[in-house]
Amino acid sequence: KEIHEQPDAVSRVVGRFVDRGARTLAVQDPLSFDFADLSRMTVSACGTAYLAGLIGKYWFERYARLPVDIDVASEFRYREMPLSANDAAFFISQSGETADTLASLRYCRKAGMKIGAVVNVRESTMARESDVVLPTLAGPEIGVASTKAFTCQLSVLASLAVRAGVARGVISKEQEKTLVRALSEAPRYANQVLKLEEQIERIARELSRYSDVLYLGRDTNFPLAMEGALKLKEISYIHAEGYAAGELKHGPIALIDENMPVIVIAPHDRIFEKTVSNMQEVAARGGKIILITDAEGVQTVGHNVAETIVIPHAASFVAPILAAIPVQLLAYHTAVAMGTDVDQPRNL
Ligand code: BG6
Repeated sequence: KEIHEQPDAVSRVVGRFVDRGARTLAVQDPLSFDFADLSRMTVSACGTAYLAGLIGKYWFERYARLPVDIDVASEFRYREMPLSANDAAFFISQSGETADTLASLRYCRKAGMKIGAVVNVRESTMARESDVVLPTLAGPEIGVASTKAFTCQLSVLASLAVRAGVARGVISKEQEKTLVRALSEAPRYANQVLKLEEQIERIARELSRYSDVLYLGRDTNFPLAMEGALKLKEISYIHAEGYAAGELKHGPIALIDENMPVIVIAPHDRIFEKTVSNMQEVAARGGKIILITDAEGVQTVGHNVAETIVIPHAASFVAPILAAIPVQLLAYHTAVAMGTDVDQPRNL
């Protein structure tokens, strides 16, 4: 149910942060700082929220030229990194209550930083203790394994990265329009992705027979590969790992054989060919490839792929918001096929 709510939820976020008609960012609540004044940004979160932040890092650095330090909160709060009171720290959390993330927020507050919270629960402690609250508007999320909160976090971070890019003079009016258009189209495309569910269910039934799965991706699809692995392991209890595709040769390739399905997340983008060469390395070792790509990707990729899940060809800026959905559906249907409790995984 929550996976299916994503087109509406993402649409709410886009409606909040974007002026769809003018194709610009919407008039915003004032921030308590100017992105132009920051020399870097610190981000801290746990679990799926951390992986949303990792995708956000690519966006902030690419579209706003703003360096981002990001850590899982349980590391950040103890690792004594140098912090500057002139910079901002953002905390991402569905609940707004996760202990390590809250402790990191208080740690940055003590260091005098400006504090922003990307939270789903607006009455949460993190929201109360922040200077700026960016609501993810996903509605109540009951499933423990985050789904719609993740794509809403991504939508907020994408909007914020564009805003930072404009504030820092990195993005022209034309580029702002292009990026905003891409964001505005995301809900419609997300709806189309959901129509792939029957195919994904069939693939998931097959996946449920394996005990290890590897996820690969490059660029923003690398954190998404980790999110895919996290989703699969937490709800189906199948061991899974997410890797940067370029790291395949530095270790995980040793694991590849016909018993290791490899899920490659690769909508067509400027480094698609690089990922294709990683797929060839997998195929040469008998690995079974499940490729999540778009129509352009299908045209470029050769055979050697066992299954192809074709999502709409969107701008690569918003592609992770769309590719997240097949990744979630794969984990969901695998868990259903295995009979595990999808909403309340053991031990979580
Ligand atoms: C984990 C959940 O326990 O907590 C994840 O399984 C979630 O889905 C993580 O991302 C962090 O929670 P929150 O509320 O801080 O986003």
